[in-house]
Amino acid sequence: MRRTHRIVTILSMAPGERVTVYGWVRTKRDSKNVCFLELSDGSSFRNLQVIVDKAEEEKSPVIDSITTGASVEVTGTLAASPGKNQSIELQADSLKLIGEAPAESYPLQKKRHSFEFLREIAHLRPRTNTFGAVTRVRNQLSWAVHRFFQEQGFIYVHTPLISTSDCEGAGEMFQVTTLPLEKVPLKEGKIDYSQDFFGKRASLTVSGQLEAEIYASAFSDVYTFGPTFRAENSNTTRHLAEFWMIEPEMAFCDLAGNMELAEAFLKNILSSVLEHCSEDMKFFNQWVEKGIIDSLEKVIDTPFTHMSYTEAVQALKTGKTNFEFPVEWGSDLQSEHERFLTETVCKGPVIVTDYPKEIKAFYMKLNDDGKSVAAMDVLVPRLGEIIGGSERESRLSVLEQRIHDTGLNPEEYWWYLDLRRFGTVPHSGFGLGFERLIQYVTGMQNIRDVIPFPRTVGNAAF
Ligand code: 4AD
Ligand code: MG
Repeated sequence: MRRTHRIVTILSMAPGERVTVYGWVRTKRDSKNVCFLELSDGSSFRNLQVIVDKAEEEKSPVIDSITTGASVEVTGTLAASPGKNQSIELQADSLKLIGEAPAESYPLQKKRHSFEFLREIAHLRPRTNTFGAVTRVRNQLSWAVHRFFQEQGFIYVHTPLISTSDCEGAGEMFQVTTLPLEKVPLKEGKIDYSQDFFGKRASLTVSGQLEAEIYASAFSDVYTFGPTFRAENSNTTRHLAEFWMIEPEMAFCDLAGNMELAEAFLKNILSSVLEHCSEDMKFFNQWVEKGIIDSLEKVIDTPFTHMSYTEAVQALKTGKTNFEFPVEWGSDLQSEHERFLTETVCKGPVIVTDYPKEIKAFYMKLNDDGKSVAAMDVLVPRLGEIIGGSERESRLSVLEQRIHDTGLNPEEYWWYLDLRRFGTVPHSGFGLGFERLIQYVTGMQNIRDVIPFPRTVGNAAF
């Protein structure tokens, strides 16, 4: 088998060239003398139109058994296309069927399928227009993330997935056990995991941050990009039990530097996707979220609004009175509040800072008022929180007090405290939820439809 080009390359080639392509048939249309195939190999949102001359049917006896979903090899010559949807088409002189897809049993028909239905066939949905576009955008974004940090001299650190500390202190962790279930010890009638991982308690990580802080304390600027796990019972369109997170961590950096980096980073990767995935983005713009390209371009060109938590609460209280969850200083901002701030008050992304310490994690730097911490959340229209970050507490005694006050066991954090004992340094970082970013960029409503194999409350199909 010898492919000469991928379809994405062919679509911008000149007439006259001979090519051999491989792909899956998206549609087949017959007229009296010719058969038109729309061929996809996943490399582009656009398909390649293949023209098969029926008069030469003996040469290609397979034409009748070719249906939507079949895989084929085509060799032929490129010609200028008279059609309005494409400038080039392939005049086939050899057509081979590689794998048939019987029409009566192939689940993907030409009609539009609902996203709910497509979730049930996660092994076939990558072949649809929408998931093709989502997958290429996801790929481009991950490449842009690495490029952005690498160009700025950040070191990519691989943090562990099996972890012994609860970074967010929220207890929403999947426990890891090496024992068969019937041997897991019970304590007061409940499963006791404390000895389960070769004599220690261990869980799937909720964040690579604490380990990234270790490396930032030696390499200055680092980032992680990997899977994280949350055992929270949130059955919403923006929560997954397994999601990917990007977490930069910078030594010698305060909250202002952290906010600057988050804004530059988001704008950089948005530009990259608009530049490199223009066909896919045109599709989202037309069919999924009208006007999304313009709105992302505006985000790239406009400075983000900054607002303290106190100001945000004030804006919420004066802006609207009938929230489902009433808001007071001290309450956590719910999705409805975050959306109101971004969609109505700021009309764009906003960075909210200095949240009450009670609703944020133990590692955030305590502000001079003693009540708030140097936290920052980046909120965006449609989704709410997309980034959560902070300046970290770098003072040993204050951190010890915070660990004590939040009810964590200081002994488990001895190594984290060592970072403050030996060469401590102001440092900051944040976490960007990769799937929320993809939702933001594509306009896709449900987070289950921007990750290849969603794991959510009550669902891990395969
Ligand atoms: O705000 P979070 O919990 O922050 C942290 O984990 C910090 N340790 C990050 C850091 O400072 N290095 O999570 C960060 C982001 C959120 O803003 C959100 O975009 C995403 O991760 N996120 C989720 N995405 C999908 N499903 C979930 N269940 C998520 N929980 C958080
Ligand atoms: Mg958060």
